[in-house]
Order: sequence, then structure tokens, then C-alpha cells
Amino acid sequence: FNVPEPSNEPVRNYAPGSKERGSLQAALKAASDQVVDIPMYIGSEEVKTGKTTPIHPPHNRQHLLGQFHSGDKEHVTQAINAALGAKPAWENMQWEQRAAIFLKIADLLAGPYRDKINAATMLGQSKNAYQAEIDAACELIDFLRFNVKFMTEIYAQQPPISGEGIWNRLEQRPLEGFVFAITPFNFTAIAGNLPTAPAMMGNTVVWKPAETQIYSAKVLMEVFKEAGLPDGVINLIYVDGPDAGDVVFSHPDFAGLHFTGSTGVFQSLWKLIGNNISKYKTYPRIVGETGGKDFVIAHKSADPKALATALSRGAFEFQGQKCSAASRAYIPSNLWESVKENLLADLASMKMGGTEDFGNFINAVIDEKAFDKISGYIEAAKTAPNVEIIAGGNCDKTKGFFIEPTVILVQDPMYKTMVEEIFGPVLTIYVYQADHFEEALELVDQSSPYALTGAIFSKDRYAVEMATTKLRHAAGNFYINDKPTGAVVGQQPFGGSRASGTNDKAGSLINLLRWVSPRTIKETF
Ligand code: NAD
Ligand code: ALA
Repeated sequence: FNVPEPSNEPVRNYAPGSKERGSLQAALKAASDQVVDIPMYIGSEEVKTGKTTPIHPPHNRQHLLGQFHSGDKEHVTQAINAALGAKPAWENMQWEQRAAIFLKIADLLAGPYRDKINAATMLGQSKNAYQAEIDAACELIDFLRFNVKFMTEIYAQQPPISGEGIWNRLEQRPLEGFVFAITPFNFTAIAGNLPTAPAMMGNTVVWKPAETQIYSAKVLMEVFKEAGLPDGVINLIYVDGPDAGDVVFSHPDFAGLHFTGSTGVFQSLWKLIGNNISKYKTYPRIVGETGGKDFVIAHKSADPKALATALSRGAFEFQGQKCSAASRAYIPSNLWESVKENLLADLASMKMGGTEDFGNFINAVIDEKAFDKISGYIEAAKTAPNVEIIAGGNCDKTKGFFIEPTVILVQDPMYKTMVEEIFGPVLTIYVYQADHFEEALELVDQSSPYALTGAIFSKDRYAVEMATTKLRHAAGNFYINDKPTGAVVGQQPFGGSRASGTNDKAGSLINLLRWVSPRTIKETF
């Protein structure tokens, strides 16, 4: 059995006047004109509890997109029961048939649902058209198609050696129990990948998205159903994290956590799982991709213009709300004036506003909590000694949660915006003495607990080698002369270590192997 060899989904650029732009604009208008009533999806039921929360675009707080119905601990139990009920039929289905369903989901997203999922991501999460396209369409389609390829590789693995009259084999079983997927707001692709990757391997899933991503999660659920995913394989619930955690992590059939979100939440969940460990039938798989404080360091030989572009794009795409976003930069003194000039020119060309205007590069941050946290850092920087805001700094939540792309220059490389995850459009820069490259590398490595993405800019091969070696554990995705964002599935497997995650590389064979538990069988003739 051969599955189609995947290639990355081509990215549409939505050029002015193009058919693609017209069709996406029509989808945006259709979605904007509706108010959707969003249920939870538990087994075959669409559950409406009457306990509703309104959904507004982050860039237009007055506009009502819809409402979602949230549940309580009882709904978590129902979702677990639905997942366990669907498990026998699903895990016994031939893997080729499961693969066909996920390939169909990818095709639906690439074709008839592309505009709808992009529009939902633009309105619900305030991504511009291009950022929605590379996330909700291309990255998710790639996750699905590449994961199917990796799945075939797992099932096609060579068996162990067998002697005469003996047949040894290794059976890849799904986990015993259900998987809990907890997903973040910032990537629709991650929200789609976290439940589907374990499901592909024969597991059934309870999925709890971030509240601020429920609007696009609903569209994914529609696509799953249309592709023929059986009821109960993925159950979508909206329940407060701690309530959901109480029920899930004390359940004997809890078999795996597929998490993406902040480091603090992941660590608290790991502790909870540890405290309950004797309750489970099996040791649960724990996979988590968490926070970051992603760096760019330049050597004195770097090209200042390429470096400035990498900083402006790497730090401010999707308002800096990418786990991979550049948020701290170490620039050698000989390049600083030129980098600054190019960076400020780039920033001056970035328009800010709602996602309906395709000319806006910067949109709103996700919600009030994020706005208050990010603007708190900016306000503190305005009055801190030896700290200078050299671009941006204005924050306004009147219409939507808008924060200007902000660049902070510090003299202390341990100043808090240089070391803490802010998760917004804030880049902090430290200028080091150009001849002290090695010390600067040491700072990059030691000043942050995170290790997600990072980049070195240099034309000097020796400096590249030195950075690659000294920063071996400082980033799970390391870029040489490129920005630290924009990993493509199948090309740059993505994930970090240290406080940034278990580094199981989303959309890879490594990740899929976490969702199976092999059984060795010896048969003697
Ligand atoms: P978050 O940690 O606030 O929330 C993530 C998810 O956890 C949400 O669904 C939330 O409702 C849930 N949650 C929160 N508390 C919980 C609890 N006590 N029990 C159970 N669930 C709980 O993160 P976010 O704001 O949605 O996303 C931003 C964070 O995600 C950043 O730290 C970012 O770096 C990280 N992130 C990392 C990667 C990566 O690949 N490393 C990718 C995307 C985002
Ligand atoms: N693929 C996303 C990036 O690398 C997470 O920015």
C-alpha cells in the first residue's frame, strides 16, 4: 500500500486583484455577517449548555462573531466516555483507512474549506491573510499529509531478526486509554495537529482548545466530520483548564497528553500527572511544546540589511505571538547604526489595523490579558534607567487590542524584556562590543531558561561554527543567516528543549512514535 508522496502545500499570496483574494474576501464578509452558535462536540452530540461566552475579533471588540457553549466537569467525563467508546472500532480499523480520512481532511482544507478556515483564523485570532494562509491552510495541510507519510513508515518498519522456525515481530499498538490534547490560541495548525496526530495512530482524543481559538476550532470540527472521521474519535470541549485537568488527570484510562502552550501551565500539568501516577493503567506519554525567548545573534561580519529584515519579520509577524518569534537580539557595535537605520525603515512601512484590510501587516494581539501583560512591559521600559524605546511603544485597546511594534534598547543584557517571555510585538536589543563575540554567545546560552528557536548571522564560517557548537542546547531550531521563524513541515522539524518543551518535533516520525506502544510477538512453528 502506497500513500501519495507529500509535498508542501503551495502558499497563496493573495495579490491585489487575484481570484484568490476575491474569494477570501467573500468568505470574510460571509463570516463577518453571521453570528454563530458554537456547541461542544462530544461523541455524536452537539452539546449546547446555554452557558455562553461571546466571541469578538481581537481587532474589533464591538463586532460579535458568535458565542460558544461551555461545559463543566460532567462534560469532561462524557467526552472521556465518548473517546473510550469509539476506541475499539477506531483502533481496529485498518491504518490505511484511517490514513484516507486524514488525507481527505487535508484535501478539504486545501480546496473547499481553505477560505473558510483562513477567514475564521483572520477574524477570530487576528491574523492577516498571509499569516492565516501559512498557518491554518498550508501548515495544517502539511502536518496531515506528512504525518500520513510518517505513519506509513512506522507501520512499514523492518521486523526484528527471526531464526529458523521462529517469527519475531513488533506490533505498533495505539496507547491503552485516551489522549488529552490541550491547544494554544496562536496557531490553528497546532490546534489541528495536536488531536489528529494521536488519532491517526489509532487513539481517541479529548481536545480542549484555548478559548480564543474556539471560533476556528469549530471549522476544523466541521471538516473532520465531512471527511468521515467517526463520532467520538476527537471530542471537542470548552471547559476551564483546571476543571478539565481535575477529571482527566485522575482518570485511570488517561494515556497521553499532547500539549502546546506556556511553560508554567505545562509544568503544573506534569506535576499533577506525577501526583496521580499510581492511578493510571499505563505510564502516560507526555508531549509538550512550551514557551520561548528566541534569539538572534550577529557576528561583526554579518550583512546588516539582511539582519534588519530578519529582525523586523522575525519579531513582528503575527504581532510577535509566535512561539518562534525573535524577541532578543545581540548586535555587534560595528553594525548597530546600519542595522538600526534599516530596522526603523522596515517598521515605518508596517501598517497596523484590522485583518479585513489586506494591507495591514500588524493586527491586534489576542485578548485583553495579553494586551495588559505586553503593555505592562512597555510602560515599565519607558521609565526604567538605561532602557530606551527606539520604535513604537504606543498601546491602545479602545477599538481592538493594538500594540505598535516596539523595539527596546538595553544596556543590561539581563533586563527583564531581554530574558522573560512577553509573547507580543516587542523586540529587545543589546549591543555588544564587536570583538567580544564569544562572550555574547555565552550570554545567549546562559541568560534564558528557554531553548526553542535562534539564529546566527555571519559571513565568517569560523563564527558560524563557533555559534553552532556553543549554542548546541540553546535552540531546538537553529537558523544560520535566516530569521528564526517560519519552520516548514517536512523541511525543518519544529520543537525546543530546556523550558521550551519535550522536543518531540511536531509533524515528524518522532512525534508519531509517542502515540504508539509497541508489542513484541515471538511465534514458534
Ligand atoms: P496557555 O498556556 O495560556 O494556554 C494553553 C492551553 O492550556 C489553553 O488551551 C489553555 O486553556 C490551557 N490551560 C491553561 N491552564 C490550564 C490548566 N490549569 N489545566 C489545563 N489546561 C490549561 O498558552 P497560550 O496563551 O494559549 O499560548 C501561548 C504560549 O504557547 C506561549 O508560551 C508560547 O510560547 C507557547 N507556544 C509554544 C509553541 C511551541 O511549539 N513551543 C507553539 C505555540 C505556542
Ligand atoms: N512553524 C512555526 C514557525 O516556525 C511555528 O514559526
